[in-house]
Amino acid sequence: MTKRLLVLGGGRQAVRGLEQLKSMGLELVVCDMDPSAPGFSVADHRIQASVYHLDDCLPAVKRFHAKLPLDGVMCLACDVPHIVARIAEVLGTPHIPVSAADLTVDKLAMKARFEEYGVKVPPYARVANPEALENLAEEWGHVVVKPVDSRGSKGVSLLERGGDGVWAFEHALSASPSGRVMAEKFLEGPQVSSESVIIAGQAITPALSDRNYEFLEKYAPFLVENGGDMPSKAKQGEKDAIWTLIGDAARSLGIENGVLKGDIVLHGGEPYIIEVAARLSGGYFCTHQIPFSTDVYLVEACARLALGMQLDPADYQAKADRHVCSRWLIPGAGQVVSLGSRDKILSLEGVLAFECWVEQGDMVAEAENAAASVAMVQATGVSREEAISCANQAFTVFGLVTKR
Ligand SMILES: Nc1ncnc2c1ncn2[C@@H]1O[C@H](COP(=O)(O)OP(=O)(O)O)[C@@H](O)[C@H]1O
Ligand SMILES: [Mg+2]
Repeated sequence: MTKRLLVLGGGRQAVRGLEQLKSMGLELVVCDMDPSAPGFSVADHRIQASVYHLDDCLPAVKRFHAKLPLDGVMCLACDVPHIVARIAEVLGTPHIPVSAADLTVDKLAMKARFEEYGVKVPPYARVANPEALENLAEEWGHVVVKPVDSRGSKGVSLLERGGDGVWAFEHALSASPSGRVMAEKFLEGPQVSSESVIIAGQAITPALSDRNYEFLEKYAPFLVENGGDMPSKAKQGEKDAIWTLIGDAARSLGIENGVLKGDIVLHGGEPYIIEVAARLSGGYFCTHQIPFSTDVYLVEACARLALGMQLDPADYQAKADRHVCSRWLIPGAGQVVSLGSRDKILSLEGVLAFECWVEQGDMVAEAENAAASVAMVQATGVSREEAISCANQAFTVFGLVTKR
């Protein structure tokens, strides 16, 4: 019988994933607050409600379920594992423990749990005021200041010894719904994104991507990532250590079956967890880059878990390791005055995917995080360098220009 799956999130970044779910023969119910959410075009049914607010989406989901029973729930390209777990609990469908989901949306609680279980994390502390923050910057030299409960690098900044702690504190505070700010020692070293599926307690990590922070200085004090490269350059020993660390992290959270997206830093050759999220990635990682590079479909894995279907771990081991470069175009702030043809970019050799979400006349904000991006490209080549050069060339040809 056709299974009916509820997906929270129908945004632009969810569309390809929804298409992948559709091709599994599922009946899709998409929930999103935006009546013109692009994901609704792929859905069989729509629920219009905010996926970030349980008091809004749960009653709407319950009404739907009373008429057409749902067999499972997951989210795509939105950070709501705690809402997914609670809805699944009400529906009686498979889910990670609510307590595990809650730990992952509170960076202090998550890190405390990791420490308790010996899962390596950077030194961190809650900071109550700018003075406490400046003292930590004095002690650690270089700190990352962040809201305890936000996402997408919102409110995150780098503070150096002697820097403006008042600004950094306020910036983080403004992005924290619970009004809590924390600081972490900035750990130097390559940053790696991971994405895993945990099946019966076994973590399988088909994908590691080297996160690209080439503009760290340009956008300081903001940390603006502009893509990533697969396969990772990490040495085999480092990859093994990352895989072990992710398995330990999942166990410490109490996740037996689920997906886990990780932010890892390789510091002195040793992996540390910056954070994990108990959901699939955004940023076209699980939907585009991972399948392009490895032939592994984690969106499918997540749906199967949500629906209580069997999973064969072998299906989620990387089957290929093609070079795939992902880049987001982050132009200067201002109005978009010209841009090229999307079809032309898609016809370039090596370009696997291209999307642009602004039009002529749109305003682009100052870059504080990846939300300032206006387009993305994924490109391949026989080497990492060729894939990167193809991605950069695509943006050059696209020729998007902004003017203040
Ligand atoms: N302790 C740290 N050392 C080095 N880089 C860090 C550290 N903490 C955060 N970062 C960088 O800042 C980014 C955003 O921080 P993160 O904790 O992942 O918050 P968010 O939930 O906004 O993604 C990370 O992905 C990482 O690149
Ligand atoms: Mg993060």
